[in-house]
Amino acid sequence: MSNEEQLSLFGGDPEPPTTSFNAIPTDASVPVPQGTYPDLDALANHCNQCQRCGLAATRTHAVVSRGNPAADLVVIGEGPGQHEDEKGLPFVGRSGELLEKIFASVNLSSEDDIYICNVVKCRPPKNRNPNPDEIEACKPYLLEQIRLVDPKIVLLTGAVAVKSVLNEKRGITKIRGQWFEWENRLCMPIFHPAYLLRNPSREKGKPKWLMWQDMQAVQAKLEELRSR
Ligand code: URA
Repeated sequence: MSNEEQLSLFGGDPEPPTTSFNAIPTDASVPVPQGTYPDLDALANHCNQCQRCGLAATRTHAVVSRGNPAADLVVIGEGPGQHEDEKGLPFVGRSGELLEKIFASVNLSSEDDIYICNVVKCRPPKNRNPNPDEIEACKPYLLEQIRLVDPKIVLLTGAVAVKSVLNEKRGITKIRGQWFEWENRLCMPIFHPAYLLRNPSREKGKPKWLMWQDMQAVQAKLEELRSR
């Protein structure tokens, strides 16, 4: 046995990964393994070339994220609408405006405290719900975002996000405000801001009031986790 072979029996540094994400075709329907992207820029770059589902044909921009990539809190929405598609940023229309106000009510801002993304990165035509194939095609990107941001808490806003992420049959009105575990972290379903725009009453027991309760619970949990 040569010296080198003998030395190799002692283990040593693991071999560097040989597959680069650039080697994964953007039309591949194969799963993208966790750990594929070295950082969020590489992931965004790949999303902008992605052809893994039919939504690529009609998008203006892939809508990957906005906010703080080192945030303790991630908010996952359903998918981009028209404004988001045009700007390439999530939640920049009326829903986004309301979301910012909701965060501000518990002293959180997307600039400092929150990373915002969606279940699907490309706009479904006419704002229809994304279909299961589209959600599956986009899921590796979402999982990589969660791995790279590494938040303490994930909020799922609206029924589509909840259904896509948690294998949960109960409706959003039943499970909003409850804590779940997903990807080894705390996760809470909350109402979608578009639903709150359609239900503007702030009366006790109404959706906006319930959202306020949920956000206070989220803020308290964040503080608890940060102080550990
Ligand atoms: N609704 C969503 O779910 N996501 C957006 O980015 C915008 C509106």
